[in-house]
Amino acid sequence: MGVRFRGWGTAVPDHVVTNDDLSRTLDTSDAWITERTGIRERRIGGTAKSLGVLAGSRALADAGVEPADIDFLVLATTTPDRITPATAPMIAAELGLTCPAMDVNGACSGFMYALRTAQGLLETGNTRILVIGSENLSRWVDWNDRNMAVLLADGAGAAVIEHDATVNEILSFRLGANGEWADLLTCEHGGYFQMDGKEVFRRAVRVVVESAELALADAGVTADQIALVVPHQANIRIIQAATQRLGIPMERAVVVLDRYGNTSSSSIPLAFDDARSNGRVVAGEYALFTGFGAGMTWASAVMRWA
Ligand code: COA
Repeated sequence: MGVRFRGWGTAVPDHVVTNDDLSRTLDTSDAWITERTGIRERRIGGTAKSLGVLAGSRALADAGVEPADIDFLVLATTTPDRITPATAPMIAAELGLTCPAMDVNGACSGFMYALRTAQGLLETGNTRILVIGSENLSRWVDWNDRNMAVLLADGAGAAVIEHDATVNEILSFRLGANGEWADLLTCEHGGYFQMDGKEVFRRAVRVVVESAELALADAGVTADQIALVVPHQANIRIIQAATQRLGIPMERAVVVLDRYGNTSSSSIPLAFDDARSNGRVVAGEYALFTGFGAGMTWASAVMRWA
């Protein structure tokens, strides 16, 4: 059965925090952050709900559909506004949706997990689904901890996907999780994000490459056919290492982490929207979406634009 992307939307807070801003209060520097991560600035502010509402409303407008046309809302978030209720019903109410709404926590693979869930919901009879990734990571960052403060940021991205009998844009999907690596990246109740950066880096490259190769094989597509890579935006060096191992030129990868940092579930739709507005999404071409995150979770999918 066919699935088609009908519209996209994004939202980032207005407040820009540069590397130099962070260097004023932390033992770090613009040179270190830029060289080791590729991040130059990030956006801080909002809530998972407020950013999700904005990105979701823009995706509905871009798709040209009304709230009543949406059969399900799947929200990917690592940073729900409250433990309960989930943030998705609150976003749904604000958008005027009357459909079921739920949160999915796949950490930085969250948007991919939500997309795969939505694809399955279309297969079981729904017509049109709003998928949102929205994060308020800054709330759970210890701003005295340079390890996390230089990386994480806030933002949201959304897509409307729908059943289509004539075309199919999602050719393959490979998800994975390994809870034995759970302690590499955590945030306890009432605590802050903590990470073993080196180990996350090492395993991230491995799981991205492995899942991408499986997704490519499932789709019957070779690496050289991939015109666009939309990777999770954690560290430019992870994107470089993964694309190199996959044999895909780095120029084909979308990079927005220089402007937005790591926005977890929001980073893939933020990157995709940037590629789209720069004319990089072309009918008939293949794209690879790939991400990884705490859990550890990972996910890769091959798309072909109708
Ligand atoms: N500013 C300045 N110096 C810093 C620093 C910072 N923010 N963080 C660490 N350093 C220092 C270290 O103390 C170390 O100093 P030393 O050589 O005197 O001991 C040096 O910089 C190198 O630190 P290291 O931890 O080896 O850096 P790295 O190259 O591994 O980069 C990360 C650190 C976190 C940027 C990198 O490991 C990474 O991106 N990992 C993956 C994280 C990730 O993707 N997380 C999200 C998952 S969704």
